[in-house]
Amino acid sequence: EQDVLGKLPLRNKKVLITAGPTYEAIDPVRFIGNHSSGKMGFEIAKAAANLGAEVILVTGPTSQKVSHSLIDVIQVVSAQDMYDAVHEYFESTDIAILSAAVADYKPKNVELQKIKKNTASLTLELEKTKDILASLGEIKKQQYLVGFALETQDELENAKGKLKRKNLNLIVLNSLNDKGAGFKGDTNKVTFIDEEQNITAFDLKTKAEVASDLLSKIISHI
Ligand code: CTP
Ligand code: CA
Repeated sequence: EQDVLGKLPLRNKKVLITAGPTYEAIDPVRFIGNHSSGKMGFEIAKAAANLGAEVILVTGPTSQKVSHSLIDVIQVVSAQDMYDAVHEYFESTDIAILSAAVADYKPKNVELQKIKKNTASLTLELEKTKDILASLGEIKKQQYLVGFALETQDELENAKGKLKRKNLNLIVLNSLNDKGAGFKGDTNKVTFIDEEQNITAFDLKTKAEVASDLLSKIISHI
């Protein structure tokens, strides 16, 4: 993976990556989660490390495994845990790529005892989690900040809105509509949109290939 000069293009660069779902506790035995496999984030971590980067991979609960001397894995559970871990490392980061499927809402109250099924219906009150990506957009200085957008309608418009609103350098639009693309599989169909509104659309590819395309794009920008 060395470049034409025989150098590793991300050598001495610190790359912070989020991956996987978050779990938001309802009671001691239950949570709200999602189907994110974590694959996309783990592939980005491996690709970055193979290009010489020092990688911090903050991941929610997944079955993914990685062992690489340049990758530090920080395991978290909830959106708040992920927020705290990311903020611990962001200041010294050169490139942050937030691919995690963070829960947007969490139970307002976490029951201390297991909820018993003694009522005919049950309503859970939810409140918003902190938006980790947006919080980095607010404090970023030299860092190159990349987000993902998972959309099922008005894809480009919504992704452009997130790029701007969250003060990103690049957003990766993930199209869930296409067969084989999305959360669980090995493939994704993505479109990159940068600050200058340049749009690059790709065919359905493996997540490893998407990771490599993404890092090439970032390297061309920094
Ligand atoms: N994200 C985050 N923290 C959150 C929610 C989202 O860091 N609490 C990040 C994701 O990792 C992703 C980006 O924000 O990089 C966009 O996530 P997405 O779910 O597509 O958009 P949202 O801003 O959450 O808006 P919505 O779900 O309503 O489309
Ligand atoms: Ca969301």
